[in-house]
Amino acid sequence: MTAATATATARTGLAPYQTRRTFAIISHPDAGKTTLTEKLLAASGAIQQAGAVRGRASMRATRSDWMEIEQQRGISITSSVMTFEHDGLTFNLLDTPGHSDFSEDTYRTLTAVDAAIMVIDMAKGIESQTLKLFEVCRLRDIPIITFVNKVDREGLGALEILDTVADTLALDVSPVVWPVGQGVDFKGTIDLIGKRLLSPSGEVLETFEDVEDLMLDETYLADPVFASAFEMLDLALSGYPAFDRATYLEGHLTPVIFGSALKSISVAELLMALGTWAPEPRPQPAEPNPIQPSDNKVSGFVFKVQANMNANHRDRIAFVRLSSGTFKRGMRLKNVRSGKDMAVTNPMFFFGQSRELAEEAVAGDIVGIPNHGTLSVGDTLTEGAAIKVTGIPNFAPEIIRRVRLTDPIKAKQLAKALSDLAEEGVAQVFRRMIGADWLVGVVGQLQLEVLQSRIEKEYGVPIAFESVGYELARWVAAEDKAELKKFIDANRSTLAEDKDGNPIYLAQSNWWLTRMQQDYPKVEFFATRERA
Ligand code: G4P
Repeated sequence: MTAATATATARTGLAPYQTRRTFAIISHPDAGKTTLTEKLLAASGAIQQAGAVRGRASMRATRSDWMEIEQQRGISITSSVMTFEHDGLTFNLLDTPGHSDFSEDTYRTLTAVDAAIMVIDMAKGIESQTLKLFEVCRLRDIPIITFVNKVDREGLGALEILDTVADTLALDVSPVVWPVGQGVDFKGTIDLIGKRLLSPSGEVLETFEDVEDLMLDETYLADPVFASAFEMLDLALSGYPAFDRATYLEGHLTPVIFGSALKSISVAELLMALGTWAPEPRPQPAEPNPIQPSDNKVSGFVFKVQANMNANHRDRIAFVRLSSGTFKRGMRLKNVRSGKDMAVTNPMFFFGQSRELAEEAVAGDIVGIPNHGTLSVGDTLTEGAAIKVTGIPNFAPEIIRRVRLTDPIKAKQLAKALSDLAEEGVAQVFRRMIGADWLVGVVGQLQLEVLQSRIEKEYGVPIAFESVGYELARWVAAEDKAELKKFIDANRSTLAEDKDGNPIYLAQSNWWLTRMQQDYPKVEFFATRERA
């Protein structure tokens, strides 16, 4: 039995949600995420299904061309969703922005996935953005499959890549598809799971029971490229553990696949690994109890809100990740935060570039709900139960700026714009405790540009940002309310309130933060805060 038939057989008798694989691809810009996305869609047959084979350039342009700033830079700032089906499974791929800057949107998208693929450029190893995104995955124990891309080019040695991943990420690595040579010497791959030796074009050259037998085969050993690949593989196999799904699911081990997105090398194996190993929808942390995907009642949460393509209408799409139950179009759902019911009459699914009405969706699926500002990031939707999904954080801003109004008559519109966009999660907005200044906080410079562009275009309010000399922000709290009051009273000039009225301390530098922590040992300083 091949791996393919094994998975297909195992799938009969499953509940629909158990056939969902909801994942993201994390990588540094230029590692090959866009190319790999296309090739995964092609390998699954989704591009033909949707009837739209597009080149990458047009894909980039059409994905979210509603935002001028994206067009100007040719990048995708907002995360979108792509759903495709393959081998009896439904894959929901949540796109994380691929630019070098960083935004809270990216972090929050990762709260809505059950698994991730980490793409690494073979010539570069682990790069900064990959590391940041990996850390977010680790916080949530999201299991990761590693795809080492560009074996068709010269790069670091395969063993060196394994060592780098293991050392930098403090993670066990387990090679599952190994390259024979690389660059001009690339001669194929060894699929250790399917027990096959494949040519560069994917033909099966050899099958084996035990890879040791292959590595002793004199015909191959006579070729120095094979001899060297075998030697390195031997070292890798003795130095690193064999693949173990349970350890992978716990987020402690990553299977590593060497391939090339551009040349479609190991893409089918990656899709197979994702379908076979990645988890079905996981329980969702919530209060009072975690939500089980098998629960009958519908529940879900908003992880992202995106302004609609038409800037003249302020309608927005809330992206809801379903956590349980079977959602049907027209169902009434309650927004637990506001206590209000809403009839969901025109929910959307996203197939590649196209959207269609969602008639039915289950745990793991992503549904777009158009609304006029009633849904905010972090909201829980249920059939009536008073459950609150947890783990959708705000992140302490790393860039803090004062908003300067160039036309003072527009103060009211500015307040409205900032409040709307803060609800949407574009940036965080703070009010200083002393003075009436608006401060905005973001984790990446590009967020500021998006904010400015949208306030000008959508609300007609020209603004500028000014530096305020703060480098860090931390939410503050204390069990002893008197201690917190003491701290606030003594430091009002460096404190602000977020949109929900929570106090946040602004520090000029890390030195100041450390000093405050020492001076007020009973006050706690938090880098993240659950959204209200
Ligand atoms: P990103 O979304 O992670 O930013 O990466 P993207 O897929 O856009 O790929 C970045 C560059 O790397 C592209 O080249 C792409 O063709 C190339 N690339 C992706 N996968 C492979 C691979 O397996 N092997 C090789 N050799 N190159 C690969 P570019 O020159 O920047 O763009 P383009 O002119 O090809 O569009």
